[in-house]
Amino acid sequence: MIKIAIFGFGSVGQGVAEVLLSKGDVIRRLIGDFEVVAVTDSKGGLADENGVDLAEALEIKRKRKRLPEGVTTMYIIENMDFDVGIEVTVTNIEHGEPGLTHIKECLKRGANVITSNKGPLVVAYKELARLAEKNGARLMFEATVGGAMPIVKLVKNDLAVNEIYAIKGILNGTCNYILSRMERERLAYDQILAEAKELGIAEADPTYDVEGIDAAAKLVIIANALMDMDVKFEDVERVGITKITPEAFEVAMEKGYTIRLIAEVDKIEGILRVSPRLIPIQHPLAISGTLNAALIRTDLAGDVVVVGKGAGSKETASAIVSDLIELYRCRD
Ligand code: HSE
Repeated sequence: MIKIAIFGFGSVGQGVAEVLLSKGDVIRRLIGDFEVVAVTDSKGGLADENGVDLAEALEIKRKRKRLPEGVTTMYIIENMDFDVGIEVTVTNIEHGEPGLTHIKECLKRGANVITSNKGPLVVAYKELARLAEKNGARLMFEATVGGAMPIVKLVKNDLAVNEIYAIKGILNGTCNYILSRMERERLAYDQILAEAKELGIAEADPTYDVEGIDAAAKLVIIANALMDMDVKFEDVERVGITKITPEAFEVAMEKGYTIRLIAEVDKIEGILRVSPRLIPIQHPLAISGTLNAALIRTDLAGDVVVVGKGAGSKETASAIVSDLIELYRCRD
């Protein structure tokens, strides 16, 4: 029996719980039996070594906005028996907390970790990877970059034998939505931002989206975790989209280009940057709406392109559960 603990019960945590409930049969067929022994949010939680009733947890959270007080994440990590912690608390890319401590303490006790939380990986990926190795645990993070767009396991598994020269992509759905609407409707940036917020994928502070901070954080994870580099957030050259005007699209489109916020790491050219770039309209990265995309340049496989939804509760849950299946798969 695989014992799972979920730390964080916002939209991502609830999305994971919903998928574990609705797709329980499929998941059990692939990994064997599992149960969720704890669910926590920032105020409290539910814990039961024989399994928490996830439907009840979701119901409580929806009705009261919080789980019952009395159980804390650190209490669970220090005192309960679980095989894997799903860490989906709120991202903070300055200090990584509270996720950083949660992840470290899980790994120290040899529990595997699956996370969607960019902060701890931006702040301390190498340290966490070493800690996992030392303790015979695994750190899985497909959901931190590109949401449901497969990139982490694609590079780590399918492209494992390749040298990754460069990864260039669209890693922020909010910016892509704003730019593609500007392209089509020639509306001003701030007019669209208000609507972009309503989509529910913008960061709590949308400055993180439009100033390229979120994309830069994902780029740091890509560089350190998928390209064996050792870069910090401050190393990323970063320009956001706030100065892009509808007129800029007029000029670009006349010449067959559009404008997209591109995150790019290139080992050969020494590039680590997030900036608005001209992209030919037929190019695979000239995608529209809230999609993410990535072009992975390799030595053996050549160029590989992936496109998919980079945010959203069920999309992120899909990535998280894919990590769970990767960890425990015992059947095809
Ligand atoms: N605010 C992010 C985006 C969410 O718009 O892509 C996913 O990290």
